[in-house]
Amino acid sequence: MSTLPDVDEVIRQVLGKKKYQHLDADLVAFIAGAEVKKRTSLKEAVKATTNKLHQVAWAYWNDQPAYSAHAKELANLPPDIHAGDSRAFCFRLMQEHASTRERLPILSDFYHALLDDIQPVNSILDLACGFNPLALGWMPIDPTAAYTACDIFQDMTDFLQAFFDHFQKNGKAGLCNLLTRIPQEKAQVALLLKTLPCLEQTEKDSARRILTGIDARSLIVSFPVRSIGGKEKGMLAHYSSQFESLLSDLGWDYKKFLFESELAYRVERGN
Ligand SMILES: C[S@@+](CC[C@H](N)C(=O)[O-])C[C@H]1O[C@@H](n2cnc3c(N)ncnc32)[C@H](O)[C@@H]1O
Repeated sequence: MSTLPDVDEVIRQVLGKKKYQHLDADLVAFIAGAEVKKRTSLKEAVKATTNKLHQVAWAYWNDQPAYSAHAKELANLPPDIHAGDSRAFCFRLMQEHASTRERLPILSDFYHALLDDIQPVNSILDLACGFNPLALGWMPIDPTAAYTACDIFQDMTDFLQAFFDHFQKNGKAGLCNLLTRIPQEKAQVALLLKTLPCLEQTEKDSARRILTGIDARSLIVSFPVRSIGGKEKGMLAHYSSQFESLLSDLGWDYKKFLFESELAYRVERGN
Protein backbone atom coordinates (compact mmCIF):
# COMPACT_ATOMS: atom_id res chain seq x y z
CA MET A 1 0.00 0.00 0.00
CA SER A 2 1.50 3.39 -0.96
CA THR A 3 1.36 6.23 1.58
CA LEU A 4 0.88 9.88 0.76
CA PRO A 5 3.75 12.31 1.42
CA ASP A 6 3.48 13.88 4.89
CA VAL A 7 1.71 17.23 4.41
CA ASP A 8 3.21 18.83 7.55
CA GLU A 9 6.70 18.04 6.30
CA VAL A 10 5.86 19.51 2.87
CA ILE A 11 4.64 22.73 4.56
CA ARG A 12 7.73 22.86 6.79
CA GLN A 13 10.11 22.45 3.85
CA VAL A 14 8.33 25.00 1.67
CA LEU A 15 8.15 27.66 4.41
CA GLY A 16 11.84 26.94 5.14
CA LYS A 17 12.80 28.21 1.67
CA LYS A 18 13.85 31.88 1.59
CA LYS A 19 11.56 32.64 -1.36
CA TYR A 20 8.44 31.35 0.42
CA GLN A 21 9.24 32.21 4.04
CA HIS A 22 6.90 35.23 4.17
CA LEU A 23 3.94 33.53 2.51
CA ASP A 24 0.67 33.00 4.35
CA ALA A 25 1.03 29.56 6.00
CA ASP A 26 -2.66 28.88 5.41
CA LEU A 27 -2.21 29.20 1.62
CA VAL A 28 0.90 26.98 1.72
CA ALA A 29 -1.08 24.36 3.70
CA PHE A 30 -4.02 24.63 1.29
CA ILE A 31 -1.85 24.03 -1.78
CA ALA A 32 0.33 21.36 -0.10
CA GLY A 33 -2.84 19.52 1.02
CA ALA A 34 -4.03 19.30 -2.59
CA GLU A 35 -0.61 18.37 -4.01
CA VAL A 36 0.19 15.51 -1.60
CA LYS A 37 -2.90 13.68 -2.86
CA LYS A 38 -1.47 13.67 -6.39
CA ARG A 39 2.21 12.82 -5.62
CA THR A 40 4.03 9.75 -4.45
CA SER A 41 7.18 11.25 -2.90
CA LEU A 42 7.93 14.07 -0.50
CA LYS A 43 10.33 15.63 -3.02
CA GLU A 44 7.68 15.69 -5.76
CA ALA A 45 5.07 17.14 -3.39
CA VAL A 46 7.44 19.94 -2.29
CA LYS A 47 8.30 20.72 -5.93
CA ALA A 48 4.66 20.75 -7.05
CA THR A 49 3.69 23.00 -4.10
CA THR A 50 6.48 25.50 -4.81
CA ASN A 51 5.63 25.49 -8.55
CA LYS A 52 2.01 26.35 -7.82
CA LEU A 53 3.02 29.01 -5.26
CA HIS A 54 5.37 30.51 -7.80
CA GLN A 55 2.48 30.82 -10.28
CA VAL A 56 0.01 32.44 -7.89
CA ALA A 57 2.39 34.48 -5.72
CA TRP A 58 5.64 35.29 -7.48
CA ALA A 59 4.55 35.66 -11.11
CA TYR A 60 3.76 39.36 -10.55
CA TRP A 61 7.19 40.37 -9.27
CA ASN A 62 10.43 40.77 -11.24
CA ASP A 63 12.46 40.90 -8.04
CA GLN A 64 11.93 40.58 -4.34
CA PRO A 65 10.96 44.13 -3.20
CA ALA A 66 13.58 45.84 -1.02
CA TYR A 67 11.17 46.41 1.88
CA SER A 68 13.69 47.65 4.41
CA ALA A 69 15.07 50.26 1.96
CA HIS A 70 11.48 51.22 1.03
CA ALA A 71 10.56 51.58 4.71
CA LYS A 72 13.55 53.88 5.36
CA GLU A 73 12.63 56.06 2.39
CA LEU A 74 8.98 56.13 3.51
CA ALA A 75 10.01 57.30 6.99
CA ASN A 76 11.72 60.37 5.46
CA LEU A 77 8.72 61.45 3.36
CA PRO A 78 6.39 64.26 4.43
CA PRO A 79 3.20 63.00 6.14
CA ASP A 80 1.08 64.39 3.27
CA ILE A 81 0.22 61.63 0.79
CA HIS A 82 -0.39 64.27 -1.91
CA ALA A 83 3.03 65.93 -1.59
CA GLY A 84 5.15 65.61 -4.77
CA ASP A 85 7.78 63.34 -3.14
CA SER A 86 5.12 61.09 -1.61
CA ARG A 87 3.35 60.67 -4.96
CA ALA A 88 6.63 60.01 -6.78
CA PHE A 89 7.53 57.33 -4.19
CA CYS A 90 4.15 55.58 -4.50
CA PHE A 91 4.22 55.74 -8.30
CA ARG A 92 7.73 54.25 -8.43
CA LEU A 93 6.89 51.40 -6.05
CA MET A 94 3.67 50.52 -7.89
CA GLN A 95 5.87 49.70 -10.89
CA GLU A 96 7.35 46.76 -8.98
CA HIS A 97 4.12 44.68 -9.06
CA ALA A 98 3.18 43.69 -12.63
CA SER A 99 -0.53 43.92 -12.05
CA THR A 100 -0.47 47.28 -10.26
CA ARG A 101 2.04 48.62 -12.83
CA GLU A 102 -0.31 47.94 -15.76
CA ARG A 103 -2.88 50.27 -14.19
CA LEU A 104 -0.52 53.26 -13.85
CA PRO A 105 -1.28 54.90 -17.24
CA ILE A 106 -5.02 54.88 -16.42
CA LEU A 107 -4.85 55.17 -12.62
CA SER A 108 -6.70 58.42 -12.08
CA ASP A 109 -9.31 57.76 -14.83
CA PHE A 110 -9.86 54.26 -13.49
CA TYR A 111 -10.77 55.35 -9.96
CA HIS A 112 -12.76 58.41 -11.02
CA ALA A 113 -14.82 56.36 -13.50
CA LEU A 114 -15.58 53.69 -10.90
CA LEU A 115 -16.07 55.82 -7.78
CA ASP A 116 -17.29 59.30 -8.79
CA ASP A 117 -20.98 58.43 -8.92
CA ILE A 118 -21.08 56.55 -5.61
CA GLN A 119 -19.71 59.41 -3.49
CA PRO A 120 -18.94 59.77 -0.67
CA VAL A 121 -16.78 56.64 -0.35
CA ASN A 122 -16.12 55.96 3.33
CA SER A 123 -14.73 52.43 3.43
CA ILE A 124 -12.78 50.15 1.11
CA LEU A 125 -11.87 46.49 1.36
CA ASP A 126 -8.98 45.75 -1.02
CA LEU A 127 -8.79 41.96 -1.40
CA ALA A 128 -5.62 40.37 -2.85
CA CYS A 129 -4.36 43.94 -2.97
CA GLY A 130 -0.82 43.62 -4.36
CA PHE A 131 0.63 47.16 -4.30
CA ASN A 132 -2.74 48.76 -5.14
CA PRO A 133 -3.09 50.47 -1.69
CA LEU A 134 -0.19 52.70 -2.80
CA ALA A 135 -2.72 54.21 -5.25
CA LEU A 136 -4.69 55.65 -2.30
CA GLY A 137 -3.60 59.20 -3.18
CA TRP A 138 -5.25 58.82 -6.61
CA MET A 139 -8.58 57.53 -5.30
CA PRO A 140 -11.51 59.93 -4.88
CA ILE A 141 -12.41 58.75 -1.39
CA ASP A 142 -13.02 60.48 1.93
CA PRO A 143 -9.61 61.36 3.53
CA THR A 144 -10.69 59.51 6.70
CA ALA A 145 -12.08 56.45 4.86
CA ALA A 146 -11.35 53.07 6.45
CA TYR A 147 -9.10 51.03 4.14
CA THR A 148 -8.62 47.32 4.81
CA ALA A 149 -6.14 45.54 2.54
CA CYS A 150 -5.00 41.93 2.44
CA ASP A 151 -2.75 39.64 0.43
CA ILE A 152 -0.59 36.56 0.98
CA PHE A 153 2.86 38.01 1.81
CA GLN A 154 3.56 38.99 5.41
CA ASP A 155 6.48 41.27 4.49
CA MET A 156 4.30 43.07 1.93
CA THR A 157 1.38 43.62 4.32
CA ASP A 158 3.81 44.81 7.06
CA PHE A 159 5.15 47.39 4.62
CA LEU A 160 1.61 48.45 3.61
CA GLN A 161 0.75 48.90 7.29
CA ALA A 162 3.81 51.16 7.69
CA PHE A 163 2.58 53.09 4.61
CA PHE A 164 -0.90 53.65 6.15
CA ASP A 165 0.62 54.64 9.49
CA HIS A 166 3.12 57.07 7.96
CA PHE A 167 0.40 58.94 6.04
CA GLN A 168 -1.95 58.75 9.05
CA LYS A 169 -4.55 56.82 7.13
CA ASN A 170 -7.28 54.78 8.75
CA GLY A 171 -5.79 51.65 7.16
CA LYS A 172 -5.23 48.05 8.17
CA ALA A 173 -3.17 45.56 6.16
CA GLY A 174 -2.99 41.85 6.90
CA LEU A 175 -2.78 38.34 5.54
CA CYS A 176 -5.62 36.51 3.84
CA ASN A 177 -6.02 33.35 1.86
CA LEU A 178 -9.26 34.10 0.03
CA LEU A 179 -9.67 30.43 -0.81
CA THR A 180 -10.30 29.56 2.83
CA ARG A 181 -11.37 32.79 4.52
CA ILE A 182 -12.84 36.05 3.33
CA PRO A 183 -12.26 39.03 5.64
CA GLN A 184 -15.55 39.78 7.37
CA GLU A 185 -15.12 43.56 7.65
CA LYS A 186 -18.21 45.32 6.30
CA ALA A 187 -17.28 47.89 3.63
CA GLN A 188 -19.01 50.23 1.25
CA VAL A 189 -16.76 49.16 -1.62
CA ALA A 190 -14.77 45.94 -2.06
CA LEU A 191 -12.02 45.78 -4.68
CA LEU A 192 -11.17 42.44 -6.23
CA LEU A 193 -8.87 43.62 -8.96
CA LYS A 194 -7.55 41.15 -11.54
CA THR A 195 -7.64 38.39 -8.95
CA LEU A 196 -10.45 35.95 -9.78
CA PRO A 197 -8.45 34.31 -12.62
CA CYS A 198 -5.49 33.90 -10.25
CA LEU A 199 -7.67 32.28 -7.54
CA GLU A 200 -9.26 29.98 -10.09
CA GLN A 201 -5.79 28.67 -10.99
CA THR A 202 -5.69 27.18 -7.49
CA GLU A 203 -9.35 26.30 -7.10
CA LYS A 204 -11.61 26.10 -10.11
CA ASP A 205 -15.06 27.70 -9.74
CA SER A 206 -14.14 29.55 -6.52
CA ALA A 207 -15.42 32.90 -7.89
CA ARG A 208 -19.08 32.51 -6.88
CA ARG A 209 -18.26 31.48 -3.30
CA ILE A 210 -15.78 34.34 -2.86
CA LEU A 211 -18.07 37.00 -4.33
CA THR A 212 -21.06 35.96 -2.25
CA GLY A 213 -18.90 35.88 0.91
CA ILE A 214 -17.85 39.55 0.71
CA ASP A 215 -19.76 41.99 2.93
CA ALA A 216 -19.82 45.13 0.73
CA ARG A 217 -22.51 47.17 -0.96
CA SER A 218 -20.52 47.66 -4.19
CA LEU A 219 -18.00 45.19 -5.56
CA ILE A 220 -15.43 46.37 -8.08
CA VAL A 221 -14.17 43.32 -9.92
CA SER A 222 -11.69 43.55 -12.76
CA PHE A 223 -9.89 41.34 -15.25
CA PRO A 224 -6.70 41.68 -17.26
CA VAL A 225 -7.17 42.16 -20.99
CA ARG A 226 -3.69 40.82 -21.77
CA SER A 227 -1.51 38.09 -20.26
CA ILE A 228 1.55 39.06 -18.16
CA GLY A 229 3.57 38.49 -21.35
CA GLY A 230 1.41 41.07 -23.21
CA LYS A 231 -0.67 38.75 -25.43
CA GLU A 232 -4.40 39.43 -25.91
CA LYS A 233 -5.39 35.76 -26.47
CA GLY A 234 -9.17 36.44 -26.51
CA MET A 235 -9.11 37.21 -22.77
CA LEU A 236 -11.61 40.07 -23.00
CA ALA A 237 -14.30 37.94 -24.64
CA HIS A 238 -13.62 35.01 -22.33
CA TYR A 239 -13.69 36.89 -19.01
CA SER A 240 -16.65 39.08 -19.95
CA SER A 241 -18.88 36.21 -21.02
CA GLN A 242 -17.93 34.05 -18.02
CA PHE A 243 -18.36 36.84 -15.46
CA GLU A 244 -21.55 38.29 -16.93
CA SER A 245 -23.14 34.87 -16.94
CA LEU A 246 -22.26 34.47 -13.22
CA LEU A 247 -23.72 37.94 -12.47
CA SER A 248 -26.92 37.13 -14.31
CA ASP A 249 -27.16 33.87 -12.34
CA LEU A 250 -26.75 35.80 -9.08
CA GLY A 251 -29.25 38.44 -10.22
CA TRP A 252 -26.82 41.30 -9.43
CA ASP A 253 -26.89 44.64 -11.31
CA TYR A 254 -23.66 45.91 -12.77
CA LYS A 255 -21.99 48.62 -14.79
CA LYS A 256 -19.14 47.70 -17.13
CA PHE A 257 -16.02 49.83 -17.76
CA LEU A 258 -13.48 49.00 -20.42
CA PHE A 259 -10.04 50.60 -20.09
CA GLU A 260 -6.97 50.23 -22.27
CA SER A 261 -5.39 47.69 -19.92
CA GLU A 262 -8.27 46.39 -17.79
CA LEU A 263 -11.92 45.33 -17.91
CA ALA A 264 -13.80 46.39 -14.77
CA TYR A 265 -17.29 45.88 -13.35
CA ARG A 266 -19.00 47.76 -10.55
CA VAL A 267 -21.52 45.35 -9.14
CA GLU A 268 -24.31 46.59 -6.88
CA ARG A 269 -25.36 44.06 -4.27
CA GLY A 270 -27.51 46.59 -2.45
CA ASN A 271 -27.12 45.07 1.08
C1 LIG B 1 -3.17 39.76 -10.41
S1 LIG B 1 -2.58 40.22 -8.86
C2 LIG B 1 -3.67 41.57 -8.48
C3 LIG B 1 -3.11 42.54 -7.47
C4 LIG B 1 -3.97 43.79 -7.21
N1 LIG B 1 -5.33 43.42 -6.87
C5 LIG B 1 -3.97 44.71 -8.43
O1 LIG B 1 -4.76 44.50 -9.35
O2 LIG B 1 -3.15 45.65 -8.46
C6 LIG B 1 -3.22 38.94 -7.85
C7 LIG B 1 -2.89 39.09 -6.38
O3 LIG B 1 -3.54 38.01 -5.68
C8 LIG B 1 -2.72 37.60 -4.62
N2 LIG B 1 -3.16 36.23 -4.28
C9 LIG B 1 -2.90 35.07 -4.91
N3 LIG B 1 -3.54 34.04 -4.32
C10 LIG B 1 -4.24 34.57 -3.27
C11 LIG B 1 -5.09 34.01 -2.26
N4 LIG B 1 -5.36 32.70 -2.23
N5 LIG B 1 -5.64 34.84 -1.34
C12 LIG B 1 -5.37 36.18 -1.37
N6 LIG B 1 -4.57 36.76 -2.31
C13 LIG B 1 -4.01 35.97 -3.24
C14 LIG B 1 -1.30 37.72 -5.20
O4 LIG B 1 -0.31 37.81 -4.21
C15 LIG B 1 -1.40 38.99 -6.05
O5 LIG B 1 -1.01 40.15 -5.34
